[in-house]
Amino acid sequence: MIYRFIYALKYIKYWLFAKHKKGHGIHSPFVYELIKNVFINKIITKDLNEAKNIHKKYRKSKEILDFKEIGAGSSYKKLRKTSVGQIIKRSSVSPKYGSLIYKLVQYFDPKEILELGTSVGISTAYIAQAVPLSKLISIEGVEEKMKIAKTIASELKQNTEFINGDFHMILASVIEKYEKLDLVFFDGNHKKNSTLKYFEACLKKSHNESIFIFDDIHWSIEMEEAWKIIQNHSKVNVSIDLFRIGLIFFRKELSKQHYVIKF
Ligand SMILES: C[S@@+](CC[C@H](N)C(=O)[O-])C[C@H]1O[C@@H](n2cnc3c(N)ncnc32)[C@H](O)[C@@H]1O
Repeated sequence: MIYRFIYALKYIKYWLFAKHKKGHGIHSPFVYELIKNVFINKIITKDLNEAKNIHKKYRKSKEILDFKEIGAGSSYKKLRKTSVGQIIKRSSVSPKYGSLIYKLVQYFDPKEILELGTSVGISTAYIAQAVPLSKLISIEGVEEKMKIAKTIASELKQNTEFINGDFHMILASVIEKYEKLDLVFFDGNHKKNSTLKYFEACLKKSHNESIFIFDDIHWSIEMEEAWKIIQNHSKVNVSIDLFRIGLIFFRKELSKQHYVIKF
């Protein structure tokens, strides 16, 4: 409860002091181009529109899912009975951030992508629409949610590979399926130690051009701490804080800098 208040204050601070979204005062050509081509890019392609439409359609879904929530420390716990629409409203990317992820993916054109935390497949749909020919594996611990994700992917004729299982148990073997990881979207189990463990595991297949995207970097004290450790990791050169999500770049040719950019 107290942290929700702190979170609101953090958001106000971000809004007041983040660098301008048009890139004023940004000297790095790499970051400036990213802002110009991705963050303020207002173009809605046909593929993005399809992702937005399916998002809108499933937000209204009243289909009830009955499942055991997977949580911190990987112990299956609370029983849940909730509609697909409610799951999307509570835990999926919003259309604004879904579009951002689509544009980021389209801009960098990663060939090998991993998503941790499919839920019912909304962010997965945005990613797959951006690069339909790339390899995309998405992992989810709750089978009932993953079934919906598969339905959405087949409606959009996407060929995402979905894997049902606990990150703690299967992540290492899933990573082995990759030659390299061009892009990873971390959006499940927002606990400090788990997040850092997944980050370290994915680092093994990262390379100079890899991009790691972390959701909910300010959501809790634990996530704040994890984000700080990740930003300061010796392999990380540029980090961009967009409040709801954080972007990590390794590119050695860039000078080490942390940006907070209004989005
Ligand atoms: C925030 S939701 C993902 C939302 C999704 N990326 C989207 O934007 O549509 C996080 C998901 O991670 C799953 N999850 C959490 N901890 C997990 C774990 N240890 N192993 C597998 N899945 C897990 C949860 O079941 C939940 O569906």
